[in-house]
Order: sequence, then C-alpha cells, then structure tokens
Amino acid sequence: MTQIIAVANQKGGVGKTTTSVNLGASLAVIKRRVLLVDMDPQGNATTGIGLDKHESPVLLSDVLLGNEDIKDAIQTIPDSTIHGLAGGPDLTIAEFEMMRMDEREYRLKKVLKHVKDDYDYIIIDCPPSLNMLTVNALVAANGVLIPMQCEYYALEGLSALIGSVKTIRDSSNASLEIIGLLRTMYDPRNNLSRDVSNQLAQHFKDKLYNTSIPRNVRLAEAPSHGLPALMYDKRSSGALAYLALAAEVIRKESARKAA
Ligand SMILES: Nc1ncnc2c1ncn2[C@@H]1O[C@H](COP(=O)(O)OP(=O)(O)O)[C@@H](O)[C@H]1O
Ligand SMILES: [Mg+2]
Repeated sequence: MTQIIAVANQKGGVGKTTTSVNLGASLAVIKRRVLLVDMDPQGNATTGIGLDKHESPVLLSDVLLGNEDIKDAIQTIPDSTIHGLAGGPDLTIAEFEMMRMDEREYRLKKVLKHVKDDYDYIIIDCPPSLNMLTVNALVAANGVLIPMQCEYYALEGLSALIGSVKTIRDSSNASLEIIGLLRTMYDPRNNLSRDVSNQLAQHFKDKLYNTSIPRNVRLAEAPSHGLPALMYDKRSSGALAYLALAAEVIRKESARKAA
C-alpha cells in the first residue's frame, strides 16, 4: 500500500521543506518510487528538486480545481527517480477558489487516487499554517510527519497541530495518524535542546524518531543548486541523517504492518 506522508507543522522554518525534499530523495535512492507534492505557495520544495515554481507545464492549482489531469502535472527530474508535483504562487488562488467548492477538503485526495498506485511513497510538503491546503494534505495522507526544532516554543504550537489531526481523523480521514516527530537542526550539546528532546521522548515515546537531523550547512546550501543534499554532497552529515531517517521510516512502517 502506498504510504502518503504529510510533512506538517504550522510553524515556519522548522525544516518541513528540507525534510520533504531530503526524505523523498533518500527513499528514492533506496529504490522506493517517490512522488513529492509541493502544497506550499512558496514553492521551496519545487525548487529544491530542481523544478521551476513559476513555470510548470500544468499547474497543481488547476489539478486541484479539477481543470487538468494530475498525470499531466507530474514531472520527472534528470538523474533522479523522484517525481515532482510542482507548487507555486498559483496555490494561493487555488486555496481561495476551493473555499467555494463542494468537498473542498478532499480535492488532493481525489486527484492522488489516480496515480497513487504508481508510488511507494507520496510526500506532501505543507505550508506553514493550518489552512485549506494543509487540510487537503492531511485528508489525503495516512501519516503525518512533524519536523520540529527543540526550542522552548516548539511544544506550544504542537498541540494546535495535534488538535487538527484529531479533528480530521474524526471527520474526514479515520486512517490518519501521526507517524513520527522529527528533531531538526538538532544540537545535543545545547542544554535546552536536550531538555526539550527529553520531554518529547517522554510524551511521544516511540513516535519520536531515533534519528535526529543535525544543523548542517550543506542542507541549507543544496536548494540553491536545485539539488537534494544527497546529490549535492552525499557525505555530508545532513545527507546521511536523512538517509538514516528514510531507513527508520521504512522500518517503522513494516513494524506497523506486522502489528
Ligand atoms: N538541518 C538543517 N541544518 C541547517 N539548515 C537547515 C536545516 N534544516 C533546514 N535548514 C534551513 O532552515 C531554513 C528553514 O528550513 P525549511 O525546510 O525551509 O523550513 P520550513 O519548510 O518548515 O519553513 C532553510 O533556509 C533551510 O535551508
Ligand atoms: Mg517550507
């Protein structure tokens, strides 16, 4: 079964896009069929895999609004097996237009149905808010991956997100679950980070990934070359951490299936 993962956190700058791109690239490198869907009007995941956020053959907004076929919007990337569904500023218009439509929260789920079986993993990069684009991602997904920085205010925002996940599970997507919390830009030498990390481990137990992502400049540089870190510097600590995360995501999924 295809695992559809929404990478969500309504806080900006916590590493959602970096995680979507690099987890996607890592899963692709270990021979999983991956589609990366950019639901953020900022289009950073799109440029992060070398696609153009202003110039896609068919816009994701038109697919969501029912004007175009999703198959025509999916793009392949040279030297990579990952496929991309590019997002950009047009998504802001789609969000607005969707508000007038019936079953507006099901738009993404409906279109993904047509291509889902072509992939092992579909990774959806969410915008930094709990808007209709994020709701569409959460309704389409079966798992939510929450990247977070281990800072004092990190926990505050978390309850709003967990609340939304519960609401969506009760109303429109019973199979939705939080598959994992990911510590990003993590520095275990920092006391506060370690404290917050311990609190997360206590509260979320095995939902907290063992893998944490270190702060690594290669992860920040790679997008300006339109490349995932694995293709930019495969020996960097950031690239290796995301490979480890991909392995953990796969392991956890098989453990869940076996349970
Ligand atoms: N582990 C990391 N090490 C260094 N820089 C990072 C790391 N993760 C993300 N960044 C940088 O931090 C900024 C915010 O990350 P991003 O993934 O865009 O967050 P979000 O999508 O949640 O807004 C970006 O400039 C990104 O390159
Ligand atoms: Mg982002």
